[in-house]
Amino acid sequence: MKVLVTGGAGYLGSVLAAQLLAEGHEVRVLDSLMHGGEPLLSLYPYEGFEFVRADVRSADAVDRALEGRDVVVHLAAIVGDPACKREPDLARAVNLEGSRTLFDRARGRVDRFVVASTCSNYGRMGDPSDYVDEESPLSPLSLYAETKVELELDLLGRNGDGPAVTVLRFATLYGLSPRMRLDLTVNEFTVELASTKALQVYGEQFWRPYIHVADAARAVRAVLDAPRETVAGEVFNAGTSEENYTKANLIDLLVARMDDDVTIDRVEVIEDPRDYRVSFGKIERTLGFRGLRTVPDGMDEILDAARAGLFDDRAASKYRN
Ligand SMILES: NC(=O)c1ccc[n+]([C@@H]2O[C@H](COP(=O)([O-])OP(=O)(O)OC[C@H]3O[C@@H](n4cnc5c(N)ncnc54)[C@H](O)[C@@H]3O)[C@@H](O)[C@H]2O)c1
Repeated sequence: MKVLVTGGAGYLGSVLAAQLLAEGHEVRVLDSLMHGGEPLLSLYPYEGFEFVRADVRSADAVDRALEGRDVVVHLAAIVGDPACKREPDLARAVNLEGSRTLFDRARGRVDRFVVASTCSNYGRMGDPSDYVDEESPLSPLSLYAETKVELELDLLGRNGDGPAVTVLRFATLYGLSPRMRLDLTVNEFTVELASTKALQVYGEQFWRPYIHVADAARAVRAVLDAPRETVAGEVFNAGTSEENYTKANLIDLLVARMDDDVTIDRVEVIEDPRDYRVSFGKIERTLGFRGLRTVPDGMDEILDAARAGLFDDRAASKYRN
């Protein structure tokens, strides 16, 4: 395949681009390098790699980047609640207008359009003893999730009018990536506890699903490898049903991995807008996808890296959106 990966210098994109190149696909990355270009350095040795530094909102640049491509994987975005809250106009412009520009220009040129969305779209679960699935109502509780919900509706409404659209609602990612993020729960808790032997946790009873970044990239590849008619106009939660955890579960797993005594400050929170347990049955049934790694595996790999000193500058802004 000849793939355009937008946001390919990011946490997920740099892992996905490497996997696709290693499989022998041609990968062109379009990225504005908001968090720097270092994650791309290890991709240059691959013959099939190309990079376009551009903004996804620029129609001309997008036209150039789309030339000769079969498939678009659209990951570029202002990612996360804090980043969107800080720059709401930019978040809307990139996540909505930029994505629409990309889709408009991709019509008539590419066959598949895979777009990254998020399980945050579900907001708080109606019934805390149940699981939400792709049919459950969406109740975005942040600007970030609002932009993703609006984008999903918009692009799914245009499926059939050009490329086959597939939406992947990812669980919260964790694990090592060339563009490391230490603002994601598992990564943050692990590095913080390993470094300071102390952690403050808000609302430990709330549920969330997690997926390793390498498995999230595998989920994208599972969509690209599936027959067009199986994935056209479809939404898939991307994760594994057994990988839903409360923050208290995460703390138990981490404390068991610490050699020294640690201090956990548990701050009571009565209501958290992000309380959801997610079923990943559809992606397993339809595409045969299951994550290969678990949260404990991810904690172990992050601990290895942290203990070897890779995150001695863990407060650096490059690790946070
Ligand atoms: N990380 C998670 O836990 C998670 C969970 C669910 C969904 N997602 C989605 O997956 C995708 C990738 O997330 P990530 O964690 O890799 O984020 P990231 O911030 O590491 O990567 C985003 C990339 O997009 C690029 N970008 C931003 N604005 C751009 C623009 N206007 N033009 C071109 N490039 C631009 C950035 O430079 C960056 O390299 C996003 O769409 C995100 O919403 C992520």
